[in-house]
Amino acid sequence: GIMGVVRTLGFIGNKNYPHIYNGVSFPGIVPAEGLKALTNFETRPDDVVIVSYPKSGLNWTYEVVTLILNNANITKHKVPLFTHVPYLEVMHIEHGKTYAEILGDMPSPRLIATHLRYSMLPPGVRDNGTKIIYVARNPKDVVVSYYHFHRMSRVHPDPGAWDQFLSEFMSGNVVWGSWYQHVLDVWANRRKDNILIVRYEDMKKDLPGTIRQMAAFLGRQLSEPGVQLIASHCTFQAMKSNPMTNGSKVPMVFNNDKSHFMRKGVVGDWINHFTVAQDRTFDSHYLRTIAVRGMEFEFELL
Ligand code: A3P
Repeated sequence: GIMGVVRTLGFIGNKNYPHIYNGVSFPGIVPAEGLKALTNFETRPDDVVIVSYPKSGLNWTYEVVTLILNNANITKHKVPLFTHVPYLEVMHIEHGKTYAEILGDMPSPRLIATHLRYSMLPPGVRDNGTKIIYVARNPKDVVVSYYHFHRMSRVHPDPGAWDQFLSEFMSGNVVWGSWYQHVLDVWANRRKDNILIVRYEDMKKDLPGTIRQMAAFLGRQLSEPGVQLIASHCTFQAMKSNPMTNGSKVPMVFNNDKSHFMRKGVVGDWINHFTVAQDRTFDSHYLRTIAVRGMEFEFELL
């Protein structure tokens, strides 16, 4: 209703004032009360949760998994992707409440999204064996994508200069917190059989293969033509030219004059943004914070 819109616009207007919750910075569109209420979030046995650090390919994965769950039945979206992906922690643009509250009324099976790191997920999701698909992406491409996203999103703080944003990202002082903490968190839980970790880079290299892997994890049988149909529906070009998935329908959230949600969709765009010095600093920081702890994600960083 209109009051919901007014309330939500209040949060959007809050652009430059992120708040801190449990040591992690969040924009106004992720209210503290909503984060607190997640403690009591009620799961269902057939829930599927897609988890990623921002800009790692969550919306892409959401589109893919939606089609896996409905047996490759390509139906037209009635509303833009960005207003139907239910992010646990985020305010719904029209309802003036978080998606977590709305999820109680959603039919099963529910496909849920979140950018919260593993240890901040609702206890029910962690304790009840809820199926989790975690999407990881090379942090250099993540920080570049995040920088451009901050420029165009009306609900994110201003990123400032690239060099400054890069060092804030490395210190974890950005909204949704530290990328490093986010991946280390899930890495510590990778052996749980309800968690599947997929990489953006693998989805780019072999989308049909990743689709088969995700379908097997979810216990879904897909025909080979079904796999191919989903893959061709979810290429970057297909999603960019689809107004329901390219972000053009939500000008109240995205300023498409600054950048685009479907910006480049490639592996390795960081090379166009990092100076040699920035790259060196980033690599040594990465080694100190991640590689040293035995994380074996192959991001082809070095
Ligand atoms: P770029 O900014 O590098 O282009 P998220 O959904 O987690 O916010 O991630 C957004 C990133 O995923 C953006 O990266 C976007 O272009 C990319 N993306 C979205 N759909 C994609 C697709 N079908 N194929 C490849 N990349 C995609």
